[in-house]
Amino acid sequence: MADLSPQSGKTFVVEHLDPELEEWSSCEYYTIASECHATGAQFLLSSVSPTLKLSEKLQRAKGLNVETRSVEDIYADKKDKVCLLDPAASKDLNPQDGDMFDIFLFGGILGDDPPRDRTSELRKKGYEGRRLGPVQMSTDTAVRVTRMVVQDRIPVEKIPYIDSPELIINKNESTEMPYRYVKGNDGQPIMPEGMMDLIIKDSEKGLGDLL
Ligand SMILES: C[S@@+](CC[C@H](N)C(=O)[O-])C[C@H]1O[C@@H](n2cnc3c(N)ncnc32)[C@H](O)[C@@H]1O
Repeated sequence: MADLSPQSGKTFVVEHLDPELEEWSSCEYYTIASECHATGAQFLLSSVSPTLKLSEKLQRAKGLNVETRSVEDIYADKKDKVCLLDPAASKDLNPQDGDMFDIFLFGGILGDDPPRDRTSELRKKGYEGRRLGPVQMSTDTAVRVTRMVVQDRIPVEKIPYIDSPELIINKNESTEMPYRYVKGNDGQPIMPEGMMDLIIKDSEKGLGDLL
């Protein structure tokens, strides 16, 4: 188990809230772990039932720390240092929040359109909440944006975004992803490695419940 004390930098916690661990979530978690590792942050995937089988690729992710305990148990004595990233919060996250909080908490939930507000499962535990602007993001995007705000000190409204990108499936088909992404240096939305393959695979099923 990695050193998860605040002295070792910021900790990003995704509380897994879905009963299964879909390939889509695996892809997102792999990316979050790798990016946190690369930027000196800790990543903790909490509330992972011992019966859930993590894919081999996810198990190999650098920087992945898996916990069966919930965030409430792990940080019972540090509740005031935990910030819940909450699309329904009244205040947006700002760079100074990096001085106030050590632990940033996210719902491990697949996106849905329209959003069903499953982040409320974490809100009702009483954590201080911050919003990342008005548009729903995937969990990996939400973690990426939070790192950019609290570690790189970029105000949330100064980050370049792409909303609802249209992805080309083949020469006859495209699909719109109804979420917000960070714009990469190549001008494209930043998405986890392997996500495009899953989108193509699931394109016939409709994307309403998938992200
Ligand atoms: C895919 S989103 C889930 C949103 C969702 N439809 C719900 O039911 O709440 C996964 C997580 O990313 C974070 N998130 C996504 N967009 C956000 C935003 N605009 N502001 C704050 N947090 C956000 C939240 O922690 C949320 O639980």
